Amino acid sequence: MALTLIFGGAFDPPHSEHVAMCKAATQQLGSDRLVLVPTYLPPHKSAGTLPFETRARLAQAAFDGLNAVVDRIEEERGGNNYSALVLPLLKQKYGDIVYLIGGDSLQYFDEWYHPEDILKVCPIAVGARAGYDDVKARASYLQKRYGGKFLPIDFEGKDIASSTLKAKLLLGEEPECLPKPVLDIIEREGLFEQYFPTLEKLKGYQSEDLFAHSKAVVTRAVDFNSKHNLKQPFEKVFLAALLHDNAKQRPSLDGLDVPKDAVGTPVLHQFLGAEKARRDFGIEDREILDAIRYHTTAKANMSGLEKLIYTADSLSDDRMYAPIPELRRIAIEDFDKGFRATLKFTYDKLLSRGKGIYPLTVDAYRYYIEEGKS
Ligand SMILES: [Fe+2]
Ligand SMILES: [Fe+2]
Repeated sequence: MALTLIFGGAFDPPHSEHVAMCKAATQQLGSDRLVLVPTYLPPHKSAGTLPFETRARLAQAAFDGLNAVVDRIEEERGGNNYSALVLPLLKQKYGDIVYLIGGDSLQYFDEWYHPEDILKVCPIAVGARAGYDDVKARASYLQKRYGGKFLPIDFEGKDIASSTLKAKLLLGEEPECLPKPVLDIIEREGLFEQYFPTLEKLKGYQSEDLFAHSKAVVTRAVDFNSKHNLKQPFEKVFLAALLHDNAKQRPSLDGLDVPKDAVGTPVLHQFLGAEKARRDFGIEDREILDAIRYHTTAKANMSGLEKLIYTADSLSDDRMYAPIPELRRIAIEDFDKGFRATLKFTYDKLLSRGKGIYPLTVDAYRYYIEEGKS
């Protein structure tokens, strides 16, 4: 009987690692057909995401030559598209199926909707990058816990995430790892260009170095968000990171409302940055504005987005001096540990300079380091 490989995803955009993984799975499982299942996002959740129709087309183009078809089942159903609900329907339709997922998805498999039901429907193939033995160990643990069968697939691939590629495209960079047919469609249709006017405006307010730093903070923040499954909305992460230093080189108060004790200090630009992001970039979202407002000082009891922007700003890839690379390595391993280590390092550095520490930073230090709260 023909074996069908099922591979789902947002495909926003699809990239060459997806293709490499599907190719390897097709060969190693001897499957006859590949069915791509783009995720459907209800309109209220799809801000900043390409329309379903476009993502379906990009997926078809990316997997050209792999005997792939796009199945629109999620769009037809409209919502509640948990794997545990959709896979039985796909099995009815295609017969013998294997569900392929990326090794990184495996880490959060326990949080999926009824994992045990998924495994009753069909085996799960897991893409494991060559040398990633932890994926195999995790698969065997989950197999013992939930029953069913996991099939590790070895493949050569790079460690990339769609959201990082998407951030680079939105920043006007041409990332590697996009299949040529995908890139052609993106260029022809002018996809991912919605923030180009914002970028142009920001460029006018920043030196070349500061603009490069702003972009580096975007990629660092987006990367932490996807790698650690922090679940912050992509668009908010992108805009808060991009605009966090928008006022750094234009310190005029312009009658805007900022704390008096910040005026004339290096932390002024965070408060002014939030006000100017609203005035000059039309940002009204409270969470984005607050992430800008506290990106330098931090504070007690921060939101997830505030922590993310604070940490990404301190640890962006344009900062090469010690001990930043080491702190970055810690945060790549464990985001919360990295956040705390960064806060502690910053506090100690300010203390050793003896110039006084802004009260919000003292609060943050007490809250997260002394009291160990989260
Ligand atoms: Fe800053
Ligand atoms: Fe910054």
